[in-house]
Amino acid sequence: MDAINLLKQDHQEVKTLFDTFQQGDADKSVIATEVCRLLTIHAQIEEEIFYPAVREASGTDDVDDLLDEAEVEHASAKELIAQIEDVGESDDLFEAKVKVLGEYVQHHVKEEEGELFPKVEKSGLDLETIGAELEKRKKALLGEAARDIAPPGTKGNRRSRSNRNGGSQQRR
Ligand SMILES: [Fe+2]
Repeated sequence: MDAINLLKQDHQEVKTLFDTFQQGDADKSVIATEVCRLLTIHAQIEEEIFYPAVREASGTDDVDDLLDEAEVEHASAKELIAQIEDVGESDDLFEAKVKVLGEYVQHHVKEEEGELFPKVEKSGLDLETIGAELEKRKKALLGEAARDIAPPGTKGNRRSRSNRNGGSQQRR
């Protein structure tokens, strides 16, 4: 899968989870945990692999500006993710925090899909190669995250993981 399709798929997956959270039928703490895990990995592969490659390939000021903004936005999102992961549903502001995180993500998706990705497509960057790198790193991080959240009291995480195994993120 090319880099842009992979990142767009991440965006869609997270957006679906936020929608499920808002609908309120599912276990909110399970969904929030999953959202935080996926977003952390998404931000990490963008920062480690995608953004540096784009910066190098494009070398234009407007792309540099977009990448700088993305880094600042990632930092804010990570702060919120840390708060959500720390206190979870016991926080009076839990729902508000997840909702605001969803708004950050909406903005992130709009900027990347609307502005950055079209510029990247014109930059001549080898999207297939970068896509393969992103995929490899993502799989490794998903494996680490799965180990990190095993004990204690993580029934919910286990359940969400086994659900995911039936979906697009099949681990081999
Ligand atoms: Fe993204």
